[in-house]
Amino acid sequence: MDITNLRARAIKDIESATDAKVCEAARVRYLGRKEGELTEVLRGLSKMSVEEKRRVGTEANELKQELEALLTKKLSELSAHGKKHTHVDVTRPGKKMALGHEHPLTKIDAQVREIFSSMNFSVVEGPELEEEHYNFDALNIPADHPARDMWDTFWVKNEVSKKKMLMRTHTSPMQVRYMEAHEAPFQIIVPGRTFRYEATDASHEINFYQVEGLVVGPDITLANFKYIIETFFKKFFGKELEFRYRPSYFPFVEPGVELDIRLPGGKWLEVMGAGMVHRNVFDAVKYDYRKVQGFAFGMGLDRLAMIKYGIPDIRLFYSGDVRFIKQF
Ligand code: DAH
Repeated sequence: MDITNLRARAIKDIESATDAKVCEAARVRYLGRKEGELTEVLRGLSKMSVEEKRRVGTEANELKQELEALLTKKLSELSAHGKKHTHVDVTRPGKKMALGHEHPLTKIDAQVREIFSSMNFSVVEGPELEEEHYNFDALNIPADHPARDMWDTFWVKNEVSKKKMLMRTHTSPMQVRYMEAHEAPFQIIVPGRTFRYEATDASHEINFYQVEGLVVGPDITLANFKYIIETFFKKFFGKELEFRYRPSYFPFVEPGVELDIRLPGGKWLEVMGAGMVHRNVFDAVKYDYRKVQGFAFGMGLDRLAMIKYGIPDIRLFYSGDVRFIKQF
């Protein structure tokens, strides 16, 4: 029994295989359990003489191992090379990559920054962990002032210094920080995260976002505020709107106003507080109230997003529910 010829054919068949199917056919032809040529040889061993059995048995078993190794190698080569040989149709439209979705609040934040920047405002940010002084006292809200009840506060233990610390309840403290560090005239907005120690419901969250605005200069009046803010809202909603101003009270402005806009259904909706910067605030930052005036405003970003997109519940923003996010 000579298996040299068998070996030569088997190796040639395997090496010339161009795909996995041909490879498999070669395996069946030589190593197949039923009628593989080499299998037959091995099966025939029992009928051979002891001497022949020893010689052929050794050779056949070595060949079996050799062919198996060769098949494995060939198959892996074919699967690696296979890709190179597939035809690429360069005219086909590309596969769309899943890029994720912007959170609606991120979008609103970007739009607000963009619109105010286009009106020459600078965008600045302040710390979320704030000192009592900036969040309250310097804004004309001393410790015994009943207006402190307007802001339910997360107080934060401070073992480092004597200062009373809190999570800022509004973005207004940045008014003070900015004026301490800059001279008038200027116009800024301060977008940022704010915190209130409150029970949550459809319109209240313990964590939400605000945008503060502050414009200070020698001849600033409420008429400037009116123009700026109406221009902002028209750009933001992309259409003409009706506005309503109501007198209101915030300790850091005098006079203070609240601004409503009219929704498509005819309902009035409060969108922000504002007013002329209070003399006590100017005093706190050592500005001369006889030389400069200013207006300030503050609005909720979540609120704006809810109006713009018709979102009924503020808690949805923080729900982490992908079905909600995917709509924007
Ligand atoms: N800080 C106020 C709040 O969170 C909002 C506000 C009202 C800001 C009037 C202002 C302002 O700058 O002038 O309720």
